[in-house]
Amino acid sequence: MKLRRTTLAVASAALAAGMSMAASAEYEKLVEMGYPAPKEGDLVHVPPTMADLEEADIHPELKKVIRRGYDLFTNTQQLRGENVFNDMNCSSCHLGEGRQPFSAPVWPAAVTLPDFRGKNQHVNNLEERIAGCFAYSMNGIPPEYGSDDMLALSAYHRWLAKGAPMYPDQPIYGRGFPAPEKPEELSYARGEQAYLDNCAVCHSEDGSGHYEDGEYVFPAPWGDGSNNWGAGIVRTHTAAGFIKNNMPLGQPLSLSDQEAWDIAYYMTRQERPQDPRYTGDVEETLEKFGPTFHKNSSYGQVREHDGHRLADHANFGEKGDIVPWNVGVPRFEDLED
Ligand code: HEC
Ligand code: HEC
Repeated sequence: MKLRRTTLAVASAALAAGMSMAASAEYEKLVEMGYPAPKEGDLVHVPPTMADLEEADIHPELKKVIRRGYDLFTNTQQLRGENVFNDMNCSSCHLGEGRQPFSAPVWPAAVTLPDFRGKNQHVNNLEERIAGCFAYSMNGIPPEYGSDDMLALSAYHRWLAKGAPMYPDQPIYGRGFPAPEKPEELSYARGEQAYLDNCAVCHSEDGSGHYEDGEYVFPAPWGDGSNNWGAGIVRTHTAAGFIKNNMPLGQPLSLSDQEAWDIAYYMTRQERPQDPRYTGDVEETLEKFGPTFHKNSSYGQVREHDGHRLADHANFGEKGDIVPWNVGVPRFEDLED
């Protein structure tokens, strides 16, 4: 009975939000799983699927480019050593092929950009936003603006946004990795234990992920094969939101808020490749980016239990010394006038 009442409440909220019946049915499933229902006035958008693409009345050449974008998004490892220098695919963090609410669905970028971005203090377009996830989350070197791969990825993002209004005034339902309420106190030791109990079976005890016969199966939440110190997910609240809403895989929302935050606290206090904005000195880097980005990360902090200073190293992971500015990508400070 409770389920039915929930369903009706969702359906009416959904219709009030201007959703079709088909769309509201999709979102009912989420609410039954425990995700919050859309609020009145929220923008609720159900991205089209790759099957819808085959049916769509658009030029076959465009379909080809969107298919290529999908393929790159879900198997970004094909760019390993060129644009990607860790074990990730875009879909390692953006679950459900970048369509899943509460898993930072990627289509909102296609309808909210160009816009000012606090992280780099200027107006970004969609390509630059995608480039950001390459530079930090993939510990990589972004494909060139206007290249075939960049075109394909941006076409895929735009395809997912099909039918959503441009520059919407409403809040977007399920955007980002919304964090649960922050508990009073976070614990590294509790986080470690909860990680071992709930996560290590797939991601391994040392956070290096899992390989079988040289094939990668589960990505690395920290270490050389993971995202670098500049990635959004190193912020403890973003990690907590990711974990609460998406992990353990297949059991989203099964951890308590305290557990999700403790694990995020533990996970974001492990080593990973250096932030590509590193100036050569952790203190100086912190002075530059502490007031904005790193105020929410543990970059440069001293870990209590062993006195280790986080991110105080020049290890860029597999990228070695091909840091972006050595291959023609301007240093962050050169972008500003
Ligand atoms: C290590 C995890 C991770 C990986 C891998 C990753 N991203 Fe992201 N991505 C994030 C986080 C975190 C955000 C910020 C979400 C937020 O604002 O809460 C984000 C945001 C985005 C956004 C903006 C979404 C919005 O709501 O505006 C786009 C677009 C995007 N990523 C594209 C990509 C692409 C393309 C790739 C692969 C080249 C990729 N991401 C790989 C973690 C990741
Ligand atoms: C059943 C296996 C499994 C379990 C258990 C699991 N994960 Fe994952 N996790 C995955 C897979 C698979 C992905 C990548 C998603 C994809 O490719 O579909 C992932 C992605 C991630 C990512 C983003 C990519 C990265 O490696 O940084 C993080 C962070 C993460 N998991 C943390 C956790 C945490 C914390 C727990 C425990 C609460 C957990 N996972 C439990 C399988 C698992």
